[in-house]
Amino acid sequence: MATFDVIVIGAGPGGYVCAIRCAQLGLKVACVEGRETLGGTCLNVGCIPSKALLHASHQLHEAEHNFAKMGLKGKSPSVDWKQMLAYKDEVIEGNTKGIEFLFKKNKVTWIKGWASIPAAGQVKVGDELHEAKSIIIASGSEPASLPGVTVDEETVVTSTGALTLGKIPRSLAVIGAGVIGLELGSVYARLGAEVTVIEYLDAITPGMDGEVQKSFKRLLEKQGLKFIMGAAVQSTETKKNGATVHYKLKKDDSEHSLDADVVLVATGRRPLTTGLGLDTLGVTLSKRGQIETDAHWQTSVKGIYAIGDAIDGPMLAHKAEDEGMAVAEVVAGKHGHVNYAVIPGVIYTHPEVANVGATEEQLKAEGRAYKVGKFSFMGNGRAKAVFAGDGFVKILADKDTDRILGCHIIGPAAGDLIHEVCVAMEFGASAQDLALTCHAHPTFSEAVREAALACGDGAIHA
Ligand code: NAI
Repeated sequence: MATFDVIVIGAGPGGYVCAIRCAQLGLKVACVEGRETLGGTCLNVGCIPSKALLHASHQLHEAEHNFAKMGLKGKSPSVDWKQMLAYKDEVIEGNTKGIEFLFKKNKVTWIKGWASIPAAGQVKVGDELHEAKSIIIASGSEPASLPGVTVDEETVVTSTGALTLGKIPRSLAVIGAGVIGLELGSVYARLGAEVTVIEYLDAITPGMDGEVQKSFKRLLEKQGLKFIMGAAVQSTETKKNGATVHYKLKKDDSEHSLDADVVLVATGRRPLTTGLGLDTLGVTLSKRGQIETDAHWQTSVKGIYAIGDAIDGPMLAHKAEDEGMAVAEVVAGKHGHVNYAVIPGVIYTHPEVANVGATEEQLKAEGRAYKVGKFSFMGNGRAKAVFAGDGFVKILADKDTDRILGCHIIGPAAGDLIHEVCVAMEFGASAQDLALTCHAHPTFSEAVREAALACGDGAIHA
């Protein structure tokens, strides 16, 4: 038996960041992880591998569509799928090994195996019992199942299977037009698959600003993705060479089906808490299976905390990381804090989509007086030079005080550009504060400044 100040359960972005911060704050810390490698879903089968495939397939798209325009002539590259997967695996390995190095550097003990919590202050891994004053659950999430749909991770796959397909499918049916469906759908569309996305709602990417949703869908359609909207998937049927998706159109209840080589189920994720022994402990879960926590991430059992996908809030790696750092401060006797009003969201398609703060629809529903500053990347010289004029920046600011309330970007490097607005919002900045900040020319970031200018006397290049 070993005794620690803190034991973190799970080494995903929430857990490993938390463990490192605990160590930096002088606590004796262990992190339990059952996977062979550290980094959780994000590094092993999520954010990082999907970005490798998005990058590789985007390069192919550039070669096929834009090289000749720039005077780069010749045969466009062909796809060696095995090598592309090997490149992706190398990226994963580099990242997961990096966390191992950070654990060693910070003296975080990695306990290998799956943990359960027999009682407050105790963590069991295999036959070993360990003790800790504080236990932090960062057990993450798993793909939600869909009634009537049996996943085999070969023909009917979740995001995990979609990252290791034996070959590039000729046709891919994606169930769900959320982040996962559109990112991975984009990858396979660029690699030549005929991609059809079946979505229950009438708009893609639920919760996103309406104007962005429309523009994003148009741009994806231009890239060849097909959408069947307002369609509830009822079941899938696996056949010898592929599968059939059965769905019902909401407008008239009519039944339809679609055949595809591979079906990707991307209809959301659910908290992963099985095996931890939470029932016996009396840790309260919400109706949706999330662990309930107070303002300091403490569960209903004293000394047991929870963060990340296992609790309420957006299922995002960076939200989990922030909670991981904050709860480390709390267990170290300091004051951890997360500003949930300023958590950016990014979709890594091409163009990228990014958002922070309120959408226009939310402001309308709240009856709030607001103004809109919008600027198209068509007016941005740098974007035009690199074939990235599609999209816009939209800033929402309070009508009276000019304080920035939200920002929505679709366009080049949107996932990086959003952060100047995040910083501005953290400082309670006005749109004018952004507009009066000198932005280097020629950069994509000038589009953010122009949108801020558009909240006032007007953008220059509009
Ligand atoms: P999601 O919640 O983003 O989207 C699921 C979609 O499936 C919704 O639009 C929903 O209406 C639709 N749907 C549900 N049941 C359906 C049915 N029977 N028939 C047709 N459509 C149906 O979920 P997704 O894309 O699986 O992502 C899971 C989580 O992972 C999300 O919380 C997401 O934020 C996170 N994630 C974030 C990424 C990023 O930040 N770039 C990347 C990948 C995942």
